[in-house]
Amino acid sequence: MYGDAILAPMDGYSDQPFRGLARQLGSAISYTEFVNAMDVLNRPDLILPRLAFEESERPVAFQLYDDDPARLLQAAETLMAYQPDILDINMGCSAKSVAARGAGAGLLRTPEKVAMIIRQLSDEFDLPVTAKIRLGWDDDSLNYLEIAKTVSDNGGALIAVHGRTKVQAYGGRANWRAIAEIKAAVSIPVIGNGDIHTIADKQRMLAQTRCDAVMIGRGAIGNPWIFAGKDRHQVSHDQVREMMLVHLGRMQDFYGLEEGLKLFRKHVTRYVSLSPLKKAQRTQLLTCTTAESFTRFLDQLYFNHRMTPKEEVYVS
Ligand SMILES: Cc1cc2nc3c(=O)[nH]c(=O)nc-3n(C[C@H](O)[C@H](O)[C@H](O)COP(=O)(O)O)c2cc1C
Repeated sequence: MYGDAILAPMDGYSDQPFRGLARQLGSAISYTEFVNAMDVLNRPDLILPRLAFEESERPVAFQLYDDDPARLLQAAETLMAYQPDILDINMGCSAKSVAARGAGAGLLRTPEKVAMIIRQLSDEFDLPVTAKIRLGWDDDSLNYLEIAKTVSDNGGALIAVHGRTKVQAYGGRANWRAIAEIKAAVSIPVIGNGDIHTIADKQRMLAQTRCDAVMIGRGAIGNPWIFAGKDRHQVSHDQVREMMLVHLGRMQDFYGLEEGLKLFRKHVTRYVSLSPLKKAQRTQLLTCTTAESFTRFLDQLYFNHRMTPKEEVYVS
């Protein structure tokens, strides 16, 4: 392991620009957004940008999903040309289009397939094969210990556990006790995941579950400093401004000027979530059509904020 906090794979968020930033700040492994094994085989144009990475991001985990062991094997074979460090299988996605066909969290209902997938992949490839799981399909089928042992017994190298069921989706609170049970039951590394928003949350998860590292998803959006051991309120306006411009630059380099700015907007709302912006200011920030106008408006806002006594609340 290269550290104890990892940016969680997040479709639409953990793209190369954000992963690179998080990794620079201390995220220990770069997990890609999940990719469909069927797309790997049939629509490589669609998935290659999702798997693009910089050398400095290593170790890089490609995350795949499917319900068909043979197709996963074939897709993994194709992806070896891109030299990932880790192959991760998604066993946690709760989206209906994925789970209902038996992929993602749907795999939790077929432990025999989990065994076959992990066994085949780890026998075939000379790299760690890992799984990201949930606790079960629903409260009546909490089979996380069985799944974790199945992954471990069949050659899996590491398990990341989101402490919720498929049916819970993102509701309620993550069950950290279950993560502790898994950690006690298997000898491979366990990454705990769910509801970490602060450094104190991270320390609590590590202490309560004894997991080897934590994975942080929603709590890292607009808050990549969490990987550098800092809470959001410890980051000054100037640092936020600087990070936004670096992040925007990376997105424009990766996606092109227009698309990069458009895709960056979902991060903007999170970066400014602690700032006392008026609704009209927020709207203007989100509708800028060039990086230049965005930067100009941001500078106006932050210049004005530096003039207000509220600033001291946000400076570390
Ligand atoms: C927008 C979004 C997209 C996600 N996409 C993925 C994904 O592609 N692969 C995956 O394993 N988990 C995915 N997840 C789940 C997260 O990795 C993580 O398990 C979950 O958000 C709980 O952690 P958190 O409380 O730190 O956010 C996604 C979550 C969100 C919110």
